Amino acid sequence: MDFLIKSGQNLKGVITVPGDKSISHRSIILSSLAAGTSKITGLLEGEDCLATIEVFRNMGIKIVKERGIYSVEGKGLRGLEDPEKPLDFGNSGTSIRLCSGILSAQSFESTLIGDSSLSSRPMQRIVEPLTAMGANITSKNGTLPIEISPTDSLKSINYSLPIASAQVKSCIMLSALYAEGVTTIEENVVTRDHTENMFKHFGIPLKMEDLEGKKRINLTSIDSINPTDIKICGDFSSASFFILAALICPKSELLIKNVGINKTRIGLLHALRHMGANIQLLNQTENIEPTADILVKSSNLKGIILNTNLVANMIDEMPVFFIAAALSEGITIVKDAKELRAKESDRLQAMAEALSSFGLKYDLEEDGIKIYGLGSTGILNSTNISSYGDHRIAMASAIASLRSDDKVRVLDCLNVNTSYPNFVDTCKEIGIDIKQS
Ligand code: S3P
Repeated sequence: MDFLIKSGQNLKGVITVPGDKSISHRSIILSSLAAGTSKITGLLEGEDCLATIEVFRNMGIKIVKERGIYSVEGKGLRGLEDPEKPLDFGNSGTSIRLCSGILSAQSFESTLIGDSSLSSRPMQRIVEPLTAMGANITSKNGTLPIEISPTDSLKSINYSLPIASAQVKSCIMLSALYAEGVTTIEENVVTRDHTENMFKHFGIPLKMEDLEGKKRINLTSIDSINPTDIKICGDFSSASFFILAALICPKSELLIKNVGINKTRIGLLHALRHMGANIQLLNQTENIEPTADILVKSSNLKGIILNTNLVANMIDEMPVFFIAAALSEGITIVKDAKELRAKESDRLQAMAEALSSFGLKYDLEEDGIKIYGLGSTGILNSTNISSYGDHRIAMASAIASLRSDDKVRVLDCLNVNTSYPNFVDTCKEIGIDIKQS
């Protein structure tokens, strides 16, 4: 399925975006491990989260949807059942890495598989710490399938994260719930803290220390988790496509309601404001996570040297940032972003190719890119863009097309369903001319 998008302006509207993907995964996982029923409102029904639901259903957890609310009948920390077949995580790196931490502690064997993109992504980053904890876990040359067999006991570790990864951190946090002793995790770069917030919400004890910009988490094993109800806010990553749309299209103004603004997620907001973006946060409130309505108006952007401290907190929004840079006055420089090469596609390479097709000049490095912006009146080529089957490349390219000289075809966009199944509907709501063919 391709997207066909015409150039556009005058985007107006009040929209909502689907539930946060990271929080949705964590809600299903922790509710399944709780002793009793939790109710989840606002769950993202993208393919990634549906894969997580299916994984837990295959381990005996009853998950039903009634009037838009998901009920998860958790069976306790040791209540999961042998799935007796490989667990398929589809496209979801978050789900497979978090669940590996739990599956390492179970009394049954498991085989973890995924689609072709997930099958090529690095898994050694979780195999290594879980092995140090005593897990019987192997991967095929550091990739899928992962095979896990029962261990007598898991033991705690002191682990300093070698890469900035919330997935690795969360994997260890979940296995620590089953490990003897105190597990200590140190982050040199603070990554998204949804697992920490969700642990607090479920009443799971954890101690956190702030060490001059670094962070230490201490955790011990627990006997049980009490069920709770969860309200999930809109996903800032999904909102970012529409923030970009309003900024780059003349005469536009959008209000995006009830979006999560956790400070470990909104690096893009800081970067865009530094570029001159007119973005306001209204009605800020707190419900498990901080949320706000985001008001965005068309803006003339200028290129920046991106503060490398922001990279981890805008890692999923980099494709959006690259398009903003392409339509800014002057040069933008990104460094320390090598993790982009380990996402659903090699996002540095994929975005460089998209920029090239749009007619941009850039210098691509191993860990970053220098983009020569076209300025606020710059026009992109009408062209075909390959999404590399990556949802975020597809959506960022689709929005960029609004500044083309006519129309653009973005190829292979089915993957948008992993995180934003109604992306096209939201586009149409605000006046974007987009078709699927
Ligand atoms: C996520 C963490 C990030 C992010 C992913 C979601 C999470 O991955 O890219 O989309 O929910 O923990 P890494 O931890 O690999 O950086």
